Amino acid sequence: MTDQSTVYPPSRDTYVLLGAVTDVEGRRFLDLGCGNGLVGAYAAAMGADVVCADVNPDAVAHASARAEDMGVVVTGLVSDLFGRVEGLFDVITFNPPYLPTSRLNLKGPCATCQWPSWEEGPARTFRCRSPKWLAYDGGRKGRELTDRFIEGVGRHLAPEGRALLIAIADNDVPDLLRTASGRGLTGKIVDECEAPDETLFLVELRHKKRRFWQRA
Ligand SMILES: C[S@@+](CC[C@H](N)C(=O)[O-])C[C@H]1O[C@@H](n2cnc3c(N)ncnc32)[C@H](O)[C@@H]1O
Repeated sequence: MTDQSTVYPPSRDTYVLLGAVTDVEGRRFLDLGCGNGLVGAYAAAMGADVVCADVNPDAVAHASARAEDMGVVVTGLVSDLFGRVEGLFDVITFNPPYLPTSRLNLKGPCATCQWPSWEEGPARTFRCRSPKWLAYDGGRKGRELTDRFIEGVGRHLAPEGRALLIAIADNDVPDLLRTASGRGLTGKIVDECEAPDETLFLVELRHKKRRFWQRA
């Protein structure tokens, strides 16, 4: 029995990511933090070989069921980011929990919450590690998961592959691109979309091209 209440529903950021799922036929595709699984199922319907991974087992189950409903097959994987991911992918998508914890404005543990919560920072905002809030809570600048993603993505991106990442202004996109550059990745904003509370940015990351004298 899966608990659907913890699964992130398709939202505007999901559709921004979906809009970039082109030219994926025959490609290895990783839908990381798959949540509801719409992106992965769509890629599979376009002919990609898809792995849907999420730290929330209910999200993985939900994504696999959605794919089945759509008549396609995806491989479901419960994984903390790239922890259990193997191999290289031509396309990697990630719509991370990108909100700064303070913006969630949790003032204390909710009455029914089974998960430990703790206070963070002078604003007396709480952090809750339940699967529901894991989909939103990106830590202090909303960058916790994004930075871990940038650290690991190069090891799973095929040489000509592209990673597509959602970010918001709180995440400091110019700094995010500099961090990626320090990891051997070149990045640019390829789409923008106005959402009710913020602008969503779609960032594309690729391996930096090495000059011929840098090749082994
Ligand atoms: C904003 S939701 C995006 C869901 C879906 N990809 C979409 O675009 O609609 C973020 C997702 O990241 C997952 N997530 C959070 N922390 C994670 C981690 N450490 N490893 C893998 N997935 C994680 C959450 O469970 C959630 O499903």
